[in-house]
Amino acid sequence: MCGIVGYVGKQKAAPLILEGLKRLEYRGYDSAGVCVAQGGQLEVVKKAGRVEILAKEVAVHRLAGTTGIGHTRWATHGGVTDANAHPHLSSDGKFALIHNGVIENYAQMKTFLARRGFTFQSETDTEVLCNLIAYHYGKEPAAPGQSRFLESVRKSLRHVEGTYGIAVLCLDAPGEIVAARLASPLILGVGDGEFILASDASALVSHTQNVVYLKDGELAHVTPRGFALSTLDDVDVSPVVDRITWSAADADRGKFPHFMLKEIFEQPAALENAMRGRFSADGSTANFGGLNITADELARVERFMFCACGTAWHACLVTEHLIERFARVPVEVDYASEFRYRNSPLDPHTLFFVISQSGETIDTLAALREAKRKGHRVLAINNAVGSSIAREADGGIYQHVGPEIGVASTKAFTSQLLLGAMIALYVARLRDLSFNDGVEYVNALKSAPDLVRQVLKQAPRIKAIAKRYAQSRDMLFLGRLALFPLALEGALKLKEISYIHAEGYPAAEMKHGPIALISEHCPTVFFAPKGELFNKLVSSMQEIKARKGPIIAIVTEGADLPKGLANEVITLPACHEAVLPIVASIPVQLLSYYIAVERGCDVDKPRNLAKSVTVE
Ligand code: F6R
Repeated sequence: MCGIVGYVGKQKAAPLILEGLKRLEYRGYDSAGVCVAQGGQLEVVKKAGRVEILAKEVAVHRLAGTTGIGHTRWATHGGVTDANAHPHLSSDGKFALIHNGVIENYAQMKTFLARRGFTFQSETDTEVLCNLIAYHYGKEPAAPGQSRFLESVRKSLRHVEGTYGIAVLCLDAPGEIVAARLASPLILGVGDGEFILASDASALVSHTQNVVYLKDGELAHVTPRGFALSTLDDVDVSPVVDRITWSAADADRGKFPHFMLKEIFEQPAALENAMRGRFSADGSTANFGGLNITADELARVERFMFCACGTAWHACLVTEHLIERFARVPVEVDYASEFRYRNSPLDPHTLFFVISQSGETIDTLAALREAKRKGHRVLAINNAVGSSIAREADGGIYQHVGPEIGVASTKAFTSQLLLGAMIALYVARLRDLSFNDGVEYVNALKSAPDLVRQVLKQAPRIKAIAKRYAQSRDMLFLGRLALFPLALEGALKLKEISYIHAEGYPAAEMKHGPIALISEHCPTVFFAPKGELFNKLVSSMQEIKARKGPIIAIVTEGADLPKGLANEVITLPACHEAVLPIVASIPVQLLSYYIAVERGCDVDKPRNLAKSVTVE
């Protein structure tokens, strides 16, 4: 949420910052702004709206300075206005600040500062922090050898309750940036004679792949000569320089009109990457390098607990089904946002997992911390290498699907389903699952990329179906067992990008309420795979048909629906139970995408949303 970019180097800062902001726009797109130190001034240009609006404004301002900061905003405190856009200046004009996060005690600080003559132009918590830095700067000089700029930021942050990723400019130190983080991501790119700060690697990877991931409570003091890290308690930190394994091309849209469509079509390759090198030599089970738990310890686990948010929570539900079905171990799934406050009793033999694409979702991070606080080992399924969750988990599995830019998660979701299925297999083979069943399961997982390729070929047909239903006001998604979470996911995907009201339910629950919605104006997307419950699914469909509800049926090969029952039929290749949720994801992703496009929605930047929810 919110994107941050900072630059210290020899090039003009503004074009570089704008390029970074464009790449970060998926993090927040309410407003954008840039500040450059030049000619004894901190020049700020900021506008409500998208980065392209800001770029036009910057073009008339001749920003030539080589040190600067920029921001894309997802509004928390204060509406979407030019005044509330970042960067914010302190009222004495000495400091400019960009901020991602929430300062919870900003109201007390504001009262304190107002009494001392500071004034405010915006309703934001960020402007308050900026003035607090100015207050500390004016109060006392730094000790010999210390940077007064750095120390005033450090002192101010000691008073902050809440979360932040910040970058600060100071008029008296025009070639420098001080940055800091607490529960909001911040990365320092180390280039050749230049440094780029960003909240997300995609903003800097075209300049350097060498990065330092700041940790919570750390500050970075960046100057043209180098950088130094220290803590809030003023202890020096030795930096660890990591290398990003993907390149700028991976974060480009290429020939696709939207990132979401690109990422939908990347799924076969993404699945191959997620499973590569993760099967045993005998081809009967999965292997995970980084789980940091022995097979003996895993075999003794009596219960699993999975926590996540949104789409990743749906991946937890599918994983629950597969672990219980194949490994016969009970699993509980909770929303991370609920678990963190619920004080749920955790049995000592419970193994705790979190799933998060970004690894920065604040609720999931808080759930992880809560479980650790209770003495539990926490493992993570996570895509973003070096993320907070990856660092704080005791072990885990990287998804390896490259950057996901589309706000609506697609390739990250199916790779989470794949890894969940692999965990189920691994645990099942430590228990009762036979060698032959394990081999069959592994072969099925290996076939997933090709099965997904087959479904993607149906995109033109799904597009035609989408056109017919794009003007619906409501839609229902129904499924059972491992496809019930897919019904939830289909409904979430549709509502978030097309703004059609949609609900997902277990198919048999329909008659306990949602059936009241059924009419000729409310289509139902119905997962009806061949299997033991097929006849019951057909009965539920008949109940919809009797009430004139249009049906878009998603079936598997060999599942023969009574003629005329469904208005549309999308047929998936027959496949193993562990692979079916992955394959069944594709038509609902495509359906949502094409409906949203047909309605003229901004698919990659849906209203009110942003990728990676780093505020509560
Ligand atoms: C929906 C979507 C969100 C995320 C959720 C968790 O398409 O992307 O629901 O799944 O915000 O995000 P991560 O996985 O980054 O923790």
